[in-house]
Amino acid sequence: MNHKLCKLFCICAIALSMIGCGTSDKEIEVPDLIRGAAPVYTDELIQIGMIQTGKESDWRDANTNDYLDTFVPERGYELIYIDGNSSSERQVKAMYDLIQQRVDYIILQPIVETGWDDAITEAKNAGVPVIVADRQVAIDNALYKAWIGSNFHEEGIKAVEWLENYLEEQGRQDEDIKIILLEGTQGATATIGRTEGLLEGISKHANWKIVDQGCANFTQGEGQTYMEALLESGKVPEFDVIISENDNMIFGAMKALERHGISYGPDGDVIMMSFDALHEAFEKMIDGQLHVSVECNPLLAGTIEKVIQELEAGNEIEKKYYTEEGVYDYTIAADYIDTRKY
Ligand code: AHR
Repeated sequence: MNHKLCKLFCICAIALSMIGCGTSDKEIEVPDLIRGAAPVYTDELIQIGMIQTGKESDWRDANTNDYLDTFVPERGYELIYIDGNSSSERQVKAMYDLIQQRVDYIILQPIVETGWDDAITEAKNAGVPVIVADRQVAIDNALYKAWIGSNFHEEGIKAVEWLENYLEEQGRQDEDIKIILLEGTQGATATIGRTEGLLEGISKHANWKIVDQGCANFTQGEGQTYMEALLESGKVPEFDVIISENDNMIFGAMKALERHGISYGPDGDVIMMSFDALHEAFEKMIDGQLHVSVECNPLLAGTIEKVIQELEAGNEIEKKYYTEEGVYDYTIAADYIDTRKY
């Protein structure tokens, strides 16, 4: 079998093996597993296997679409897109499949930082370059080519700075401030970094107290159920601020507050803060439901493409690339909403 035919056979084999997984697991949508595969294979295309976390948030959808729009045959790529379906085991399996297939590059967006030593070492030994994006992996960085993503710790610090300024503007800087912290997936860099940044900043204020802290996995549904359960438990009779580690969880929390007749946002009582700065967050800021969203940029594919082009040209690359991000609150949301890309 010549090289071209062998590669084509491998692509079919991996796609078929994943279709097999899909039929035994009703939650998996088969087309997503092979979405992005090029209709025509040529040796000129750079073959990229991309392992995504899942579909936990609207941020994630914007991030996925960015990859699907960037790594297209017309630009010289064949993308094999694999939805991790919020399962680390599934992501690791996908990594081994892609190594076996000898793709030209693997882009890994890990759900959690741990559990990657063996799979990424195997990729390195097999000569398949791995580029990590969005969240990080807790391994020796010599094992992968580069990481591209957000400074999550910095995002947490920015959120605290915004709250400090806001309370001062409101003349509430000396009040006791009770905070509920809704966290994302445990073990994910976005959660680790934001939580550390937030706790670091919050600890500097003797009059600020976290009255509840828990995980809602970055999903809107869990944001709502977590908040519903908390309100129904009566464990936290009073609170001033909800900080949610992404927009979707705060959208869910809003529904729970409404059901319990609690007013929120700049037009209400509870100070509402989140991360991502999705288009819908801008709408909610303009509508007086959300105070601020600290930006997390999902559009990573452009930088990754540049990194790949540098590697193709045999040039040196950086180990880490941070995206640029801002902070948007309800006072400026209307000025920016039309410029937002996600
Ligand atoms: O890792 C980035 C985070 O993951 C985003 O903040 C969140 O919305 C997503 O699901």
